[in-house]
Amino acid sequence: MNIRRLEGKVAVITGAGGGLGAECARVLALHGAAIAVADIDMAGAESVAAAIVEQGGQALALCADVSSEEAVAAMVAATVERFGRIDVLYNNAAILNSAQRAADRDICNMDVNAWDRAMAVNLRGAMLCSKHVIPVMLRQGNGSVLFATSGFGAQGDLTLSAYAASKAGVAMLSKSIAAQYGKQGIRSNAIQIGLVENAGHPLPPEIKTILLDNHLTPALGTPRQLADIVVFFASDESSFITGHTLAADGGFSSHTPSMAAMRGFFEKVGSNTL
Ligand SMILES: NC(=O)c1ccc[n+]([C@@H]2O[C@H](COP(=O)([O-])OP(=O)(O)OC[C@H]3O[C@@H](n4cnc5c(N)ncnc54)[C@H](O)[C@@H]3O)[C@@H](O)[C@H]2O)c1
Repeated sequence: MNIRRLEGKVAVITGAGGGLGAECARVLALHGAAIAVADIDMAGAESVAAAIVEQGGQALALCADVSSEEAVAAMVAATVERFGRIDVLYNNAAILNSAQRAADRDICNMDVNAWDRAMAVNLRGAMLCSKHVIPVMLRQGNGSVLFATSGFGAQGDLTLSAYAASKAGVAMLSKSIAAQYGKQGIRSNAIQIGLVENAGHPLPPEIKTILLDNHLTPALGTPRQLADIVVFFASDESSFITGHTLAADGGFSSHTPSMAAMRGFFEKVGSNTL
């Protein structure tokens, strides 16, 4: 994309101090948006914001724990004070560090604190950010709210049960917002993300192979591919889309559960005749 699609817009991106959120911040800024780079990790947020400013963009680093209503209210107030408006909210922050992943397992082995943390950050955090940003958008008469969700939030799997439930909740939260504020110019959508390689969370090669076998694309996703989709939802080009969950997952959720095993079988027998 070479055209600057977000000139004059202001975007709040949570969890933008690292991972996919950082790339989204960088790419939205390339399209002309001013970015509030919010994260619980202030050093990460500052470094992402500094890189944007160095490239000639506008960015404000904000330290905010999205699970705290006080912190979220302060984040929104600081953004409005600096940039005067908020056009885009990307609810990207999630608790995904290795301690959380190790504790968030199948239900019988669930660490209840991990369950509470997933709900507090991933779901309550997204609700709080929406609660405080939407009034700003209502005053303007427009805005685009966006949520990061996952295949885990749509289909059953063997582990990460708290993450999965929180992401299912996020997809519903998006639809509630679309229904409640659509007539006042607010759109709300979710992106169901497939496996996007994140240097912060390297996966064991065996797991990458299993996941790649179940994506229909030649490769797993890149942060830039995801950021380009966020740009689309942030821009007026998506103005007739609301209440939608878009699977940006290389086809991961679009095929039969047996497909990858069948591919191996057909290769072994040398034919796809059933
Ligand atoms: N990477 C993938 O393949 C993938 C797949 C599906 C969905 N997603 C979703 O995309 C989003 C980004 O994922 P990622 O891979 O970049 O993860 P990440 O762990 O690299 O980034 C998450 C960011 O959120 C921040 N954060 C954590 N707790 C916070 C809190 N309480 N308040 C504010 N910020 C907080 C972290 O500091 C971090 O910068 C998440 O919502 C995730 O569920 C990612």
